[in-house]
Amino acid sequence: MFQKKLFFIMLTAVFLGCTQTKDPVEGKIDELLSKMTLQEKIGQMNQLTGTGLSNDMVSQIKSGKVGSILNELDLKTTNELQRLAVKESRLGIPIIFARDVIHGFKTIFPIPLGQAATWNPQLVESGARVAAKEATATGIRWTFAPMIDIARDPRWGRIAESCGEDPYLTSQMGAAMIRGFQGKNLSDPTSLAACAKHFAGYGATESGKDYNTTWIPELQLRDVYLPPFKVAVETGVASFMCSFNDINGVPSSGNEFLNRQILRKEWNYSGLLVSDWASIEQMIKHGVCTDLKDAARKALKAGVDMDMMSYAYINQAEGLVKSGAISEKQIDDAVRNILRLKFRLGLFDHPYIKEQAKMPFYTEDALRKAKQAVIESAILLKNEKDILPLTDAIKSVAVIGPLSDAPADQLGTWCFDAEPSHSVTPLAAIKNSYGAKVKVITEKGLTYSRDRSPQGIAKAVNAAKKADVILLFVGEEAVLSGEAHCRADICLPGAQPELVTALKKTGKPVVMIVMAGRPLTIGKQVEEADAVLYAFQGGTMAGPGLADLIFGKAVPSGKLPVTLPRMVGQVPIYYAHKMTGRPAEKICLIDNIPVGAAQTSLGNTSYHLDAGDSPLFPFGFGLSYTSFNYSSVKISKNKMSEGQTLDVTCNITNAGKYDGAEVAQLYIRDVVGSLARPVRELKGFQKINLKAGETKTVRFTLTSDQLAFWNADMVKRTEPGEFQVWISTDSQSGKPVTFNYI
Ligand code: NOJ
Repeated sequence: MFQKKLFFIMLTAVFLGCTQTKDPVEGKIDELLSKMTLQEKIGQMNQLTGTGLSNDMVSQIKSGKVGSILNELDLKTTNELQRLAVKESRLGIPIIFARDVIHGFKTIFPIPLGQAATWNPQLVESGARVAAKEATATGIRWTFAPMIDIARDPRWGRIAESCGEDPYLTSQMGAAMIRGFQGKNLSDPTSLAACAKHFAGYGATESGKDYNTTWIPELQLRDVYLPPFKVAVETGVASFMCSFNDINGVPSSGNEFLNRQILRKEWNYSGLLVSDWASIEQMIKHGVCTDLKDAARKALKAGVDMDMMSYAYINQAEGLVKSGAISEKQIDDAVRNILRLKFRLGLFDHPYIKEQAKMPFYTEDALRKAKQAVIESAILLKNEKDILPLTDAIKSVAVIGPLSDAPADQLGTWCFDAEPSHSVTPLAAIKNSYGAKVKVITEKGLTYSRDRSPQGIAKAVNAAKKADVILLFVGEEAVLSGEAHCRADICLPGAQPELVTALKKTGKPVVMIVMAGRPLTIGKQVEEADAVLYAFQGGTMAGPGLADLIFGKAVPSGKLPVTLPRMVGQVPIYYAHKMTGRPAEKICLIDNIPVGAAQTSLGNTSYHLDAGDSPLFPFGFGLSYTSFNYSSVKISKNKMSEGQTLDVTCNITNAGKYDGAEVAQLYIRDVVGSLARPVRELKGFQKINLKAGETKTVRFTLTSDQLAFWNADMVKRTEPGEFQVWISTDSQSGKPVTFNYI
């Protein structure tokens, strides 16, 4: 009997052992790799931008010198290039075609920062799925998204592409995008391999200037900048991209600590790592490499698998291997990662894309989801006298402002395949959907966001005088944010501030809708306006989504994914700041300081004389047409220890007249740590729908791991002591309850 049992156990062990070691993809990779010459391996590591069927491209593909092509958009050309690779190169390895599909391909969704403002991962996932279906129909199987850089500086143009300032929110949104892009199975022809970028710390760029240096202590890197990337690995992201910046002097494309130690060793990542555009070559300009050969060597040593547009590997790697500077094993490892993705995508079995008569663009389903994303991404910052939603008493509206009818600008940055002719602008949507109900008077006032001409303002004022309410669409042109489009002053550009003031003077209620690529310093305009909706740039369906919010067919539920500063000088400003030894008290602003006041008379605490210590609006903030009451927070126990969980609950009541959705936010604070800890840290959120008058209980489960942080010994650990926990409507409100970690 015993022997029989033993035999059975051994058999199971052998079976399990076999299933573990015999991953069929790894076997295929080994087999293919064994047939490849060194040149063919290096060819796989070369990514080039599309040049159609140019002679050069054709001959390089035939000789196995191209592993991936980005930015080739014509499907027939793509299929022909693929045919050349599959049929006319020696080993027939398919090419992987890539493209930046950031917030939509044809149907454009809100900019990622706007999507993060929905605090609705399912919606964000469904948007990425739409983008994947549209993009894959043209042959693209790899997108360079999501961008999950933590962005705490709104001067940085790429904040538009980010999910904002918070590691937890960014992690959730990034994971949602990855799931949406990649679908259930990478081998599905509508699956797009996602790319977690930019690894790492790019958002910490000094002075918010793109490509600039970053100085990030390892503790902060691990606590703030890396968590979304770790979650991306856990979500199964297919690829990573290096960032352009140097961290503490080491550019990411040559950063062994980041790419080998953290990404591969600590996180056990088996996907592909691609450089950013020419970022290997740029290590020469950074001043850390003497020439392209040196740059190629550094990048290879750092474990960068694929070279995007530096021509460094294709021209230098062979020599480096021959001289012994790089081992062939290092090349093999990189090629394995590349082939693994090609196998996972099913490219060897299905290299071509069906050339359809009708592309699956702008489907009803896609447009509906895009509109919902607009609705949920708009944040109501102010609503004096409940001016919004407009009631039946409003018989006429004046639609004004440079963004009221700007089809290209409402799409936002970095959507090269978008077609502005498909954009539905706020003006068009208001006319189409509500034109029968209200008279629509229109006068742009300023033709584009930077317009400074005063003539338009006078015309807008005249138009406004004829209407019951002014709907003022201000903001930024798409080109004022995104890569390499940073601003040192983040005010409303052009004469828009003057336009707001002039319209306010008419005495008509002003509803201001901000369509921007970043947080703007709009303190004065918020004071002047009666209601403010911060909408970011909403994409194709910005108009219909915003019109429904304005007229009450939909109720705002967006929450700020990033702090809105009062003044640019407050930047970086974020909710998860440290307390300091002298937190702000009794703030005395500059105009109130008595003349001749003594140096220490203000109490010596931490604030700016001109801006005080608070943001214009905090992270997590967003009003609704209804109101939500939070009961006091309850915890399941007041002591917890390692491996345990703690339930945190509270009741939320919709105390207003409208059905609505609220984002309940879970924050903690480690009151006394071995290192100073943030005043609050987001650890969870739930978006819940509540009918007018309805009460629901929200429940979060905190794990002991969620309380941990990286300490001075570079160990992530939960420290014993007192913790506070909140469930609140934003990062500044609510009352905490206390528990102890023992
Ligand atoms: C440079 C950008 O930094 C990166 O995000 C993008 O994916 C590549 N160019 C490719 O377009």
